[in-house]
Amino acid sequence: MTFDLQKNQILLGNALEILPKIPNKSIDLVVTDPPFYIMTKSNIKFKHRADIIQNAHFDHFQTYDEFLEFTDSWIKSLESKLKDNSSMYIFFGAQYISDLIRITEKYGFRYKGILVWHKTNPAPKIRKSGYLSSTELILFIVKGNPPFNFLGQKKMHNLIETPICQRPERLIDLQPDSKGKYKTLHPTQKPEKLIEKLITVSSHQNQIVCDPFAGTGTVNIVCKKLERYCIGIEINKKFYQAAINRLRQ
Ligand SMILES: C[S@@+](CC[C@H](N)C(=O)[O-])C[C@H]1O[C@@H](n2cnc3c(N)ncnc32)[C@H](O)[C@@H]1O
Repeated sequence: MTFDLQKNQILLGNALEILPKIPNKSIDLVVTDPPFYIMTKSNIKFKHRADIIQNAHFDHFQTYDEFLEFTDSWIKSLESKLKDNSSMYIFFGAQYISDLIRITEKYGFRYKGILVWHKTNPAPKIRKSGYLSSTELILFIVKGNPPFNFLGQKKMHNLIETPICQRPERLIDLQPDSKGKYKTLHPTQKPEKLIEKLITVSSHQNQIVCDPFAGTGTVNIVCKKLERYCIGIEINKKFYQAAINRLRQ
């Protein structure tokens, strides 16, 4: 596989196999939303509304150790691909964020902070038995002294508020389910506005961004808008194809 780094591309395959083929010290920024061992419960089904999705086939780990080993492998593979001055943002489950920090420190990354994404329209807590799950954490780490475009005091809170991705931005599965209903294509498609903030702050035009767990290609789309190059990798053929179509539009 040869890489044209000055391109916006999405590759179909396993990140653990593709990452080692990327030229060393070629990436300026990673923004990624990997599988992180939280979507292991069954979906909640309702008669009169859409199911609440708590299960995704890509969050496939059988054990906590297997999940840690996977996380360690992809961070290790990425480390040598990043330039000496580069940044990485990783979406992760709150309960495992300290594991992630330890792994990234082991590979020489410097902790810069944690951002909180507040979803302003989370799924309701139908049984009223706990708090709504309305936040996700994003670990921010760096190597050296990468670009950092400070947007002004009011815009640089470590809290980003947006709704979860909704139509028309949200992609719909063009194959109806067994009841003839059209559902969302990807359970965790991120809003472009959220990704736009991270890329704007931590990169310049024409720099090279990578998302090894591209899903519907949101990072690629935002890079196209903001004039950055991007290497996305996605293992699932259906998501890959949807991301390619989205990028072509
Ligand atoms: C949380 S989703 C990312 C969603 C994405 N942020 C978006 O906006 O659509 C994680 C993605 O990683 C993919 N994935 C899981 N394991 C992978 C692997 N080993 N290599 C490449 N992609 C993988 C899954 O198929 C899934 O689409």
